[in-house]
Amino acid sequence: MIKNLTVALLLTGALTATAQTEPIRIDLGQKGAVVSPNLYGIFFEEISHAGDGGLYAELTQNRGFEEHVLPSGMTYKEGKAYAPDAMNYEHRNHRNWNIPWNLEAKKMTGWKVVGEKATVTGEVVEAKTPLHKNTPHAMQLDIKKVQKGGKAVLINTGYWGIGLKAGEQYDLRFYVKSSNYKGTITARLQDGGTGASLGTATFNSRQLKDWTELTGTLTAEGTTAQGELSLEFDQNGTVFVDYVSLFPQATFKGRKNGQRADVAQMLVDLHPKFMRWPGGCIVEGATYENRVKWKETLGDPMTRRGEWDVWGYRATWGMGYHEFLQFCEDLQMDAMFVNNAGMSCSVRNGDFVSSDADMDAVVQDFRDAIDYALADPANNRWAKMRAEAGHPKPFPLKYVEIGNENVGPEYVTHFNYIFKKLQAEYPQIIFINTLGHTDRLLAQIPGNYMVDPHWYRDPNFFFANNHLFDEAPRTHDIYVGEYACNGRVGAGNLLAAISEAAFIMGMERNSDVVKMSSYAPLFENENRRDWPCNLIHINSTEVYGRASYYVQQMAAENRPTYNIYVSEPTTGDPKTTRYFCQTGYDEQTGELIIKVVNGTDQPYNRSFTIDGANNVMPTGKIITLNGDANDENTFEQPTKLAPRTTLYGKFGKQFGYQFPPMSFTIMRIKVEI
Ligand code: AHR
Repeated sequence: MIKNLTVALLLTGALTATAQTEPIRIDLGQKGAVVSPNLYGIFFEEISHAGDGGLYAELTQNRGFEEHVLPSGMTYKEGKAYAPDAMNYEHRNHRNWNIPWNLEAKKMTGWKVVGEKATVTGEVVEAKTPLHKNTPHAMQLDIKKVQKGGKAVLINTGYWGIGLKAGEQYDLRFYVKSSNYKGTITARLQDGGTGASLGTATFNSRQLKDWTELTGTLTAEGTTAQGELSLEFDQNGTVFVDYVSLFPQATFKGRKNGQRADVAQMLVDLHPKFMRWPGGCIVEGATYENRVKWKETLGDPMTRRGEWDVWGYRATWGMGYHEFLQFCEDLQMDAMFVNNAGMSCSVRNGDFVSSDADMDAVVQDFRDAIDYALADPANNRWAKMRAEAGHPKPFPLKYVEIGNENVGPEYVTHFNYIFKKLQAEYPQIIFINTLGHTDRLLAQIPGNYMVDPHWYRDPNFFFANNHLFDEAPRTHDIYVGEYACNGRVGAGNLLAAISEAAFIMGMERNSDVVKMSSYAPLFENENRRDWPCNLIHINSTEVYGRASYYVQQMAAENRPTYNIYVSEPTTGDPKTTRYFCQTGYDEQTGELIIKVVNGTDQPYNRSFTIDGANNVMPTGKIITLNGDANDENTFEQPTKLAPRTTLYGKFGKQFGYQFPPMSFTIMRIKVEI
């Protein structure tokens, strides 16, 4: 919701002096394009710990001890992981793609082993009898010389601290195996800063010869952002531990294996109409084998193997395809699934498949995903799995994108192959062609599908391209799937957000062709930034939106039903001026909506003439986001930049207003037409 609602007449902004230029003329009698109800959605990718350590509510990191496992299909040699030697589909060369791989350091990600009046070694090993075939590794603790009152402690430090709240309950699940351990196992929540114990659960020694699941509930006796979970062993022995999971009971909507409630609420407050999953580059993978394989994201999270993702860490896929679809349903938004088109990222290895058999397998993988979401469990095995996972009814899958940021003739061949088959079989699905980083708005392939261009640029680009879509061909509907002002704007300052507002107004004006958009990336954990600017910042206990977040929210909350004529969408030369105006009418509320960007460091005085209305009510709302260009929100000042809503009493068929420097302003004025 808009912050800081001030119910008072705001007179200070009223323009008393005569405006220096002609009034901007708005004509309610001249209708423009209907504004797509689906214009504003969200893009999710596992990047910067957006999921693990972000939206996904799991509190332990590297819960299955699989973090060090090589990306699928890659081989290890002398500190590096190597992709298979293959032809790059775009560059037609062999890139010998590889990355540094510090096997030993990765193994202990998230974990510490400590002996207190005891000697203990902890090593991540490949278990002789694994807990599950998909997750072969486990922690082996060799515990010796435990003195009276001593213990061996296995500690998980979470994603840069486990956030714990006094009085809240946490579900613990872990597995243990030992042929000789006869002691007690104590699970403890503790404050990693002070060492204070914040709650325990004790598991008495019993038959642990085979893998044994231990579960319990811990109630936090204090609040901390630096929490830890420890498993304590008070006798000598060799103990194997695997899949240590800790979840708050208070997830979003109380879902098991669900999302963090405060983080999910940030998305609710954006009013998104759709959500894209799972990316982004990770759809492509560094190699084809490394792509996101949605089938491996289903089932008991303990059985999910996870995968190293191109952003440099292993995704657990705890928030998998099913959880994504469920989340879409929970937020009443449409689901957009993006699947690999038979080719990996050409900036990385770029290997690809091309035989008919391989391409048919790619098509079948799309089919199975669509069926998982939509088919009847009575006659489809994937839909049956959905029902067995607790959701017999279909999920709201509406869009399927074929590949991500793939380019060139090879992609054209793949897209055609996949699209033609699927379009005939699934007429209810809207398919999307990935254009990627391009200023070409038209895909060179005939057919009825949407196109998805991406832009990550500096403020000048976004200001200068308010008119980009005015000239776009109207042959394909456009989904601007990724865009963000992320060049020379710090971690995302107000200038970035204001330039995005100008760009968004251009999308809205051209919503006859721009039907959908999503800012990207969506999240970052403050301890891990894989991309320069991200919409929402998270740590173990807090979350805040950048100024760009509020621009998204303002746009979504003030989406008109249709556009109306405005004489000056841009004031002056669109390449250099930074004044923009966009107008529309909200049929539900009977309001004229005027959006104005002032992207300069000076106040902007303008007068307006409203034609085509029988009556214009004097009192209306003004929503303003403004500040210094370089300002950014932070954990210390999370809403330094946030919109303020005020009442304004001087609207009329003619009125003037002074727009503050560096501002995005929305006026809502009741009119009779
Ligand atoms: O959003 C970050 C990355 O930018 C995405 O993974 C990719 O699609 C784009 O290049």
